[in-house]
Amino acid sequence: MGFYSTITNQISFYTGLSPTAFFTIAFLTFLVYRTVSAMFVSPQDFNKPPVVSARSGSLFEVAEPRREPVQVGEITEAELRLYNGSDKSKPILISVKGQIYDVSEGRNFYGPGGSYTMFAGKECSRALALLSFKPQDINGNLEGLDESELTILEDWEYKFIEKYPKVGRLVSEERTQQIEQSQEDNLKLNPNE
Ligand code: HEM
Repeated sequence: MGFYSTITNQISFYTGLSPTAFFTIAFLTFLVYRTVSAMFVSPQDFNKPPVVSARSGSLFEVAEPRREPVQVGEITEAELRLYNGSDKSKPILISVKGQIYDVSEGRNFYGPGGSYTMFAGKECSRALALLSFKPQDINGNLEGLDESELTILEDWEYKFIEKYPKVGRLVSEERTQQIEQSQEDNLKLNPNE
């Protein structure tokens, strides 16, 4: 009791305020500080995309830690489809003109629910050239495209080269089978290798 009354007496003596008024002002100052500081983003988080969290609904929640891009080498379209953003432990990959880019940094665009999620895990050269979202255009077939459409595709390619790391190359199913076959043949010829 003695301690409490000493504190309240000191507050009144030094501030000229009643303890209730002092604590009310201190609390309001704290609230103003929290509100104002929440309006700013720290320099480290400035370049991270805002993440909408299903748990808190906060727009400014910090994104998951950035992952180093992993090289996938030569993969087929079927393998590419596994990287469509539905498995959060895998990067999101997109192929443009047979080159595979890790677009995980653009998860807001390509992840589930994003405006361009239909391109995730796909070779999407034709769709980009034609500026089309039609499922039948989301492939690597460049047949019948005119000069201007190929220029549009090239512009997209530059954008991807500039923005995202290249992590592999798309190969046809037949090519993979050929490689596997020749590896098997090699093993048969040189069983000790
Ligand atoms: C009404 C038409 C469209 C509008 C208003 C629009 C708007 C946008 C905006 C605002 C961005 C974000 C740009 C950035 O922050 O870098 C974007 C990105 C993008 N748009 Fe569109 N867009 C349109 C049509 C299309 C079409 C037709 C395609 C292709 C078929 C397309 C493909 C893309 C892609 C792939 C990205 C992401 C690029 C990246 O990874 O940085 N958009 N769009």
